[in-house]
Amino acid sequence: MMSEAEVLFSITKDHLDTGLRGFPVGYCTTSSVDPLLGLYYGGYQIADLAYKDPEEIIYLLFNRELPTKEQLGDFKKELAKHSKLNPNVIEQLKHLPKTGHPMKWLMAGLNFMGMYAGTSNYRTDAMNVVAQLPELVAAIYRIRSGWGDTIESKPELGYMENFVHMMNTPNATEHFTELMRVFNILHMDHGGGNLSTFVGKAIGSGQEDMYGSLMGAMSALAGPLHGMANQECLRFLKTSLENVADPTDETAVNQYIDKLFETGGKLYGFGHAVLRVEDPRATVQYALGEKIAPYNKLFRMAVSMRKLGTEFLKKQPKVSNPYPNVDAVSGSLLTSVGLLDEEYYTVLFGLARCVGIAAQIVYDRLDARAGKGTPIIRPKYVYSGPKR
Ligand code: MLT
Repeated sequence: MMSEAEVLFSITKDHLDTGLRGFPVGYCTTSSVDPLLGLYYGGYQIADLAYKDPEEIIYLLFNRELPTKEQLGDFKKELAKHSKLNPNVIEQLKHLPKTGHPMKWLMAGLNFMGMYAGTSNYRTDAMNVVAQLPELVAAIYRIRSGWGDTIESKPELGYMENFVHMMNTPNATEHFTELMRVFNILHMDHGGGNLSTFVGKAIGSGQEDMYGSLMGAMSALAGPLHGMANQECLRFLKTSLENVADPTDETAVNQYIDKLFETGGKLYGFGHAVLRVEDPRATVQYALGEKIAPYNKLFRMAVSMRKLGTEFLKKQPKVSNPYPNVDAVSGSLLTSVGLLDEEYYTVLFGLARCVGIAAQIVYDRLDARAGKGTPIIRPKYVYSGPKR
């Protein structure tokens, strides 16, 4: 039997302008996405990893094995050693326009990090960027939202615990840290072909450095069809709640869905380019929500949409995946723990996703093809303009 990479495609016109769906273009050493089983990191199903230490998962993505206790201890110390963000980066953030979306701030922040502290060594930069991103994102939150001064990093607290400490979110509930840990793990990687990862790898293929590659990757993540979908999904749940006072009233939710479609609207948070089942990352979050936010109305609306939205979409012709994806529920949980401004949700996604992208860029640049690295990405487009 041929391996996946050996499958030869006979390319026809029907394959063009379809977003490269399903074309194998390289190896991914960190994670895989099975249409029916969902996400695996290093061969482990995501549901089995969701409650581990984020540091264990970072180690797994970079080293392809879960760490032993001793390796984990050493790795945590190593991360802590690299965790100091260059103070000039924070100073630069203070001059950014507050009207700019937080994702633009994240891109700017990565650019500043590279300019002040880039080493032009992919492995070293990967370690630095992963270790320092919690401080960058916490600073973006605090400065842009006007929460006050940035807070001194205490890396000894743990990767996400330190992030929570540096955020010092005004409305944080007791479940804040638990959610941040799980959210971070669930969003770290999703194979090599998701848009932001692919873009980051493509930019790296021209031998742009780690920071520039991640900046481009975050620009890709900022689109509403990709990472910014979590912001859009929460807005959808909020609007749904304005129309249906009781999210557990199935008749009213069904009526709302019908009306929505009659007026050209759509359900947010459903479907996926690869998955053909409920996204296991959503499944983990629904279960967590029953524990940390069972009475939160936005979460209850997300749960009703999970059932009724799926039932509705199953009846629609041409819907290949009627099931919820990771974004269908994440926003309701983030709100429930006190992160009330959905404009920042994609930045939290980015904080996590940079880990997987950085690990994949390290492989592409330093390990692929027996250390030669992958060549510059250069697919072919078929000319369809005027012929003279
Ligand atoms: C992701 O996590 O990147 C999204 O589910 C999108 C994708 O995999 O294409």
